[in-house]
Amino acid sequence: MSNIAYIPGDGIGEEVTRQGLKVLDYFNDKHQLGLKFEKFDLGAERYLRTGEIMPDGVLNKLETFDAIYLGAVGDPRVEPGLLEKGILLKLRFYFDQYINLRPIKLYKEEFSPLKGKGVKDINFTVVRENTEGIYAGIGGFLKKDTPDEVATQEMISTRKGVDRIIKYAFEYAQKFGKEPKLTVCDKSNVLTYAHNLWQRAFKAMGENYPDVAQDHYLVDAITMKMVRNPEIFDVIVTCNIFGDIITDLGAEIQGGMGMAVSGNINPDSISMFEPVHGSAPDIAGQNIANPLAAVLAAAMMLQQLGHPELAEKTEAAVVDALSKNMITGDIGGDLSTDEVGDYLVQSIKTNEEGENDAEWD
Ligand code: NAI
Ligand code: MG
Repeated sequence: MSNIAYIPGDGIGEEVTRQGLKVLDYFNDKHQLGLKFEKFDLGAERYLRTGEIMPDGVLNKLETFDAIYLGAVGDPRVEPGLLEKGILLKLRFYFDQYINLRPIKLYKEEFSPLKGKGVKDINFTVVRENTEGIYAGIGGFLKKDTPDEVATQEMISTRKGVDRIIKYAFEYAQKFGKEPKLTVCDKSNVLTYAHNLWQRAFKAMGENYPDVAQDHYLVDAITMKMVRNPEIFDVIVTCNIFGDIITDLGAEIQGGMGMAVSGNINPDSISMFEPVHGSAPDIAGQNIANPLAAVLAAAMMLQQLGHPELAEKTEAAVVDALSKNMITGDIGGDLSTDEVGDYLVQSIKTNEEGENDAEWD
């Protein structure tokens, strides 16, 4: 039994998440998962109609759910940042989603921009701290708009905040890692206070996880390694800003934004799963948007809700669609958004029926 709040949002958000829902509906019926969905009208349309972005009543109601499945927000008719800040960031902070989970996984050999690196090489996960660091919003101006202006932006690392993200990363590596190995990515050679704390926290926490290999890269070096030797990574844990930057590099090496997924997670509260791309107003409403990232976000949600085998089946269907070119135009196919969703469900069905046949043999 899980209650899922569904926020399609703006632009292509609805089109792509509808395909994720098709997959979730199929599993729900077939395996009696007891998933219940409720759709929330949040985003540009509501704002333009009523002036509301995220009413308190809605936040309170969302508290009663187990997870949030989000499309994307942002609309050219609305001042940039208003909806992104008022909905996306609001939810991340309100539910203290301190983990940003970003798998970097190449699903199709041909999508690799790295010479000689393919599906078996590009497969790791970045665990990004999502609530503090230099994005905590602490700072200010002195003598603004004068020649003597000073601007400060402070980097906040709390021991509690760093401990909890590192603990999650160790546990994630232990459960889902390949080797398992956890790499901490920081700039401890220059950020001798903030990232000295990260170093000490990582070492201390690491003592509880002797079965997880432990490794360290400075952030500048890690960008080179992600390009030259992505195969050496399993799970990477890093601070807010470095996570932001290296996961964009990660998205490129996994075949672009069309494949990139993000989980905003609080293991003790409500987590939110979304494709990394935005609302793509330039192609909205045309049924041509690539739904794979949104479908993979649904798979990540299934995994977090305790159905890892169904997440795997969803990934397998994505791999199948890619290999048969049953995909949208942006990645070289000629199907519509809806057709890709239908194909994925069909692929999962065929796969599951094959499984059942095998049982009868
Ligand atoms: P975007 O990711 O929406 O689009 C960038 C480019 O990629 C566009 O040419 C778009 O057509 C294409 N694209 C994106 N997703 C695609 C998909 N699934 N299939 C095919 N093509 C796809 O980023 P952009 O244009 O910078 O932002 C548009 C709006 O989305 C803005 O309002 C922005 O603030 C918002 N945004 C929201 C995010 C979120 O909700 N998580 C994340 C990023 C941007
Ligand atoms: Mg970014």
